[in-house]
Amino acid sequence: MMDCKVTSETVEQTRNWGKCLGERLLPGDVLALIGDLGAGKTALAQGIGEGLGVTGPMTSPTFTLIHEYEGQCQGKKIRLVHMDLYRLQHPQEAEVIGVEESFTEDAICLIEWPEIAEDYLPENRLDIKILGSGEQPREIIFHSAENDWEQRIMDLIYSREKLGGSQ
Ligand SMILES: Nc1ncnc2c1ncn2[C@@H]1O[C@H](COP(=O)(O)OP(=O)(O)O)[C@@H](O)[C@H]1O
Ligand SMILES: [Mg+2]
Repeated sequence: MMDCKVTSETVEQTRNWGKCLGERLLPGDVLALIGDLGAGKTALAQGIGEGLGVTGPMTSPTFTLIHEYEGQCQGKKIRLVHMDLYRLQHPQEAEVIGVEESFTEDAICLIEWPEIAEDYLPENRLDIKILGSGEQPREIIFHSAENDWEQRIMDLIYSREKLGGSQ
């Protein structure tokens, strides 16, 4: 069990946290991005895409529900699946749009508004909660019930401290 909190003063810093995290992701990873409208979930996802070598713009999947990109992970091609479940009304809709099919070993999956699909999410996942709105600084909280995430998040935080904190 792990809970780690970092601060982000600007959208660039949030993207940068995402990029550094993206560089540490592995095929099969599932990340739940939790936070209110405008918290910075999509900004973080864009940074993660950058860290995974996604070229071209990553746009918000609010209206399209699922966007898919090609990235690079450990020198191999990876599918990056970016979902936004905000518009779903019932958990069963998550099943219909194929949320579970994205949890495969050849994909990395980022889910905004994951709450409605809670029953379908794998136990082994990283939850990232973003608190704050508007031009306020954000708190980014990493939480996982699985130990293997702890090492990666510690490594992420440590490497950024070495860089001098918050760039
Ligand atoms: N520290 C910060 N981190 C993330 N976004 C920030 C921050 N400060 C201001 N913002 C702004 O908040 C908005 C976040 O939007 P977005 O990433 O689309 O949120 P969400 O996907 O959670 O609805 C952007 O307009 C961004 O410029
Ligand atoms: Mg969003």
